[in-house]
Amino acid sequence: MKSAKKKEKVVLELNDVWKTYTMGEVRVDALRGLSMKVMERDYLSVMGPSGSGKSTLLHMVGLLDVPTKGKVFIDGEQVKTMSDDERAVIRSHKIGFVFQVFNLVPSLTALENVALPLMIQGVPRAEREKKAEAVLVRIGMGARVHHKPAELSGGERQRVAIARALATDPAIILADEPTGNLDSKTGQEIIDLLDELNDEGRTIIVVTHDKEIAARAEKRMRLKDGQVISKS
Ligand SMILES: Nc1ncnc2c1ncn2[C@@H]1O[C@H](COP(=O)(O)OP(=O)(O)O)[C@@H](O)[C@H]1O
Ligand SMILES: [Mg+2]
Repeated sequence: MKSAKKKEKVVLELNDVWKTYTMGEVRVDALRGLSMKVMERDYLSVMGPSGSGKSTLLHMVGLLDVPTKGKVFIDGEQVKTMSDDERAVIRSHKIGFVFQVFNLVPSLTALENVALPLMIQGVPRAEREKKAEAVLVRIGMGARVHHKPAELSGGERQRVAIARALATDPAIILADEPTGNLDSKTGQEIIDLLDELNDEGRTIIVVTHDKEIAARAEKRMRLKDGQVISKS
């Protein structure tokens, strides 16, 4: 029998992270000394006013960008010491992104969009299409595999985007206002889906403006001016 005590493993860690964007003479400190730990299987919501650094934070934990100052660790490995290629490989295998704007390729079918991250990993065509179809079926989009984004509703597009994030079977899902462009009923379905993904053991970080969505997460964090102002 398994021990009742859950062994907690830190999957993501930010240590005094600063991110400064420079545009000409203007400097913006988007993150100002932010520290946090995310444990395996955590379900964390991030709230905060527009401009508080939420998307910048997701870019850091998702290895899309590196901090100006401070340290980011994924599975105990420091991101700054990796080459761009190493970072891309880790991102591609460990992390799935879901954005508010679905970021689907308009000229590709649902199946081709979902298969894209697998193509980037070098998975052969037949295998990646089989995987992509299985993920689409799982996510309730089995009847739409050959539709292009323009032929799908907003909720269906977001499902395809989630399927694409899941295609590589990542342990971590990062969602940046995933329901921001959806009506509340469709948004609810997407949130149910995130719950399911957490139930099956994935670590979820969701940025949201919606208090109800934030309440569904097990842990909550609030940002203001690039700093954590509350945790619960
Ligand atoms: N690529 C960028 N270049 C310059 N400034 C940026 C860039 N991305 C974000 N910012 C600025 O950093 C701050 C935080 O932005 P962001 O992380 O997008 O906040 P949020 O997602 O909470 O709305 C804002 O002031 C924003 O204007
Ligand atoms: Mg944002």
